[in-house]
Amino acid sequence: MSSAHGETFRGRVRSRLKGIYYSRTCRALAYAPADAYDRLRGRRGPLTPPRRLQYVGRAADFEAVGADWRERLVRDHGLRPDSDVLDIGCGVGRAAVALIPELRTGSYEGFDVVPQFIRWCRRAITSRHPRFRFRVADVGNRQYNRGGDSPAARFAFPYADEAFDLALAASVFTHMEPDGIRRYLAETRRVLRPGGALVCTFFLVDEEVERMLPLGRSAFPLDHELTDAEGTRYRAADRRVPEYCAGIYERPLRADVAAIGLEVEAVERGWWSGREVGPGAPYQDLLRLRRPA
Ligand SMILES: C[S@@+](CC[C@H](N)C(=O)[O-])C[C@H]1O[C@@H](n2cnc3c(N)ncnc32)[C@H](O)[C@@H]1O
Repeated sequence: MSSAHGETFRGRVRSRLKGIYYSRTCRALAYAPADAYDRLRGRRGPLTPPRRLQYVGRAADFEAVGADWRERLVRDHGLRPDSDVLDIGCGVGRAAVALIPELRTGSYEGFDVVPQFIRWCRRAITSRHPRFRFRVADVGNRQYNRGGDSPAARFAFPYADEAFDLALAASVFTHMEPDGIRRYLAETRRVLRPGGALVCTFFLVDEEVERMLPLGRSAFPLDHELTDAEGTRYRAADRRVPEYCAGIYERPLRADVAAIGLEVEAVERGWWSGREVGPGAPYQDLLRLRRPA
């Protein structure tokens, strides 16, 4: 059954359930017993966040996903012990914690729109490893920071020009609209040194994915065709809160990347869409974009 906005009953229920899953109050209540148990039994290390703050994946994924990022960044994307790294949408420090042994003389800056995440990162990580620093960015996001002050499309990263060698946006542009992504790419180019790179993930929609989406093999449906405030089309699983899961059309994204002055240097197709990929492929589509030297 569809509503006047073309939204099915199932879609509305799914949207409400997601709202509950992401509500900080509901999570604090639901996870209080497990978090208290972990604390009492000493089951959680000082650098592992409580379950109520772990929005992505299962609690057990925190270390494993962080380690996977460390390995990819070192093996494939040129992270060195002396790199200056920016982590865009750093969450609860999943990549940061994994990079502590790796970044021996370099530095790490992370920012995120959720103040609770940043508070936790500062308390747990910066207090022990002062070269790892975190900031809140009060940017609006209907999933993560509904009342945020600034739209992503106008946000200026709080860092100097050419301050970083490597930037990471892991599972962040999958929660943003295209106008915000465009702005973030331009800001990333500004803060990267010439020759520096951004490693970022997307749910990229190309012709093959467009053909496959109706077959229902993707990890989630991207049923809704939406338009951002600047008129760019994109797809989303939920039309009320597109930031739950946003798919970006690849062709206009590549045009934006070129216009901004970044080069697409590597593309690894992820398995989220249900397409055939090789062993070791990431879940989301991964791009490495380089600021020319
Ligand atoms: C799926 S989580 C990934 C977190 C982290 N990168 C990781 O891999 O563990 C998405 C993160 O993006 C953050 N985020 C969403 N919109 C953002 C924005 N406009 N600027 C910065 N962070 C944002 C969210 O608050 C959330 O922490």
